[in-house]
Amino acid sequence: MQTLDDLDVAGHRVLIRSDLNVPLDNGTITDDGRVRASLPSIEQLLDRRARVVVLSHLGRPKGQVRPELSLEPVATRLAELLHRPVTFVHDTVGRPAQAAVNALADGEIALLENVRFDARETSKSDAERVDLASAYAELADAFVSDGFGVVHRKQASVCELAELLPHAAGRLVESEIDVLRRLTDEPTRPYSVVLGGAKVSDKLGVIANLLKRVDRLFIGGGMVYTFLAASGRSTGTSLLEADQVDTVRDLIAQAEQLGVELVLPSDVVVADRFAPDATATVVACDQIPDDQMGLDIGPASATLFSERLADSGTVFWNGPMGVFEFPAFAAGTRAVAAALTKVAGLTVVGGGDSAAAVRTLGFADTDFGHISTGGGASLEYLEGKTLPGIAVLED
Ligand code: 3PG
Repeated sequence: MQTLDDLDVAGHRVLIRSDLNVPLDNGTITDDGRVRASLPSIEQLLDRRARVVVLSHLGRPKGQVRPELSLEPVATRLAELLHRPVTFVHDTVGRPAQAAVNALADGEIALLENVRFDARETSKSDAERVDLASAYAELADAFVSDGFGVVHRKQASVCELAELLPHAAGRLVESEIDVLRRLTDEPTRPYSVVLGGAKVSDKLGVIANLLKRVDRLFIGGGMVYTFLAASGRSTGTSLLEADQVDTVRDLIAQAEQLGVELVLPSDVVVADRFAPDATATVVACDQIPDDQMGLDIGPASATLFSERLADSGTVFWNGPMGVFEFPAFAAGTRAVAAALTKVAGLTVVGGGDSAAAVRTLGFADTDFGHISTGGGASLEYLEGKTLPGIAVLED
C-alpha cells in the first residue's frame, strides 16, 4: 500500500477523501474528533505545497441536497484547527468546484460540498459510481484516501476514484490499520472485547468471528437484553430482538465450547420510559419488571466488568453500555471507560458512538491507546471482511 511519502504532491492538485461526518446539533459540531483526526494528512499535504481539495460525506442525504447536512460548518472548524483559510465550495463536480480548484495556489485548501448530495456517490450501479468518480478525477492529479470511517463502503469517492488517479493511503488510514492489525495478529493476552450499542443484529458477524480469537467477551447496551432473553430471563419492555434469540443462544453455546469467558451484567438500571427524567431503579438481571426497560448496566455489573477488564493485555471496546446521553443512565459507560484508562495493555475505543461517549463523559483521547474514527469500518475489519476502500489501495 502506497503512503503519502510515495506521492509527488508539490504544486499538484490532490484530492483527499476524509471522513468529516461529525455529529451536528443545529449546525454546531458537538464532537470534532473526526476533523482533528483528519489534520495530520491535510497538514502534511499543505506543508508540501500541494493544492488540497477535501472530499467528505456528512450523514445520509441519499442523493438529495439537504441544507442541514451541508459541510459548511465543518469548513469553518477545519479552518480554525488549521489556522488558515479553507475555501468552502457549495458544489462537488460542477463549474463552481472546477473554478475553485483552479483558483487554488500551492499550499491552499478547499473543501467541497457533501459528496452524498449526488446520488451517484452511493449508487448501486458501478457505471454511475465510475461516472461520478471520473468527474472528481478531472479535478486533480492525485488521490489520498484518508476517510477511515468510510473505507467499508463501496462508494465513488472511496473506491472508484482511487482507481482513476495515482493514489496513496493517508496518515489516518495508515494508523487505524496499524492498530487493527495489532488486534488481529497475535494480540497480547488476555484479549478482552466489550460490545454494547443498541442492536445485536448489527454485531452478530463480529461476535462470531471474535469468539475464535478473544479470551473474554463483555456484553452491555441495548443488545444485552437479547442475550438475557436467550438465557431465559424476562426483559420487560427493554429493547429486544426476538428474531435473534436463537442465534444468540447458539453464540452463547459456542462461547462455552471455545472456552471464551462471556461476561454479562448481573444487574441493570431500569425505568418505565425512555426519557432523561425517568425514575431510575437498579434491579437484578432476572428481576426486570414487566413494565420497565433496561437503560444501563447496573453498579454491580460495572464493578464486575471493571474487575475482569483490569489485567487485560488488549481491549477493544465498541458501543456504549447504556443511554449515556441521559446522565441517569451513563454510569455503566463511564465505568467501562474508566476501567479502560487503568488497563496497562493496548486499549482501543472503536467508532462513532463509543468515541463520542468517552468525550461526552469527559475523558481525554490520550486516556486510551487509540480512539478509532470508524465504528462500522473497525467492526467489519475485526469481522474478517475485506474493506473495499482498503483493498483498492493495495492493488
Ligand atoms: C460513520 O459514521 O460510521 C462513517 O462516517 C460512515 O458513515 P455511513 O455509515 O453513513 O456510511
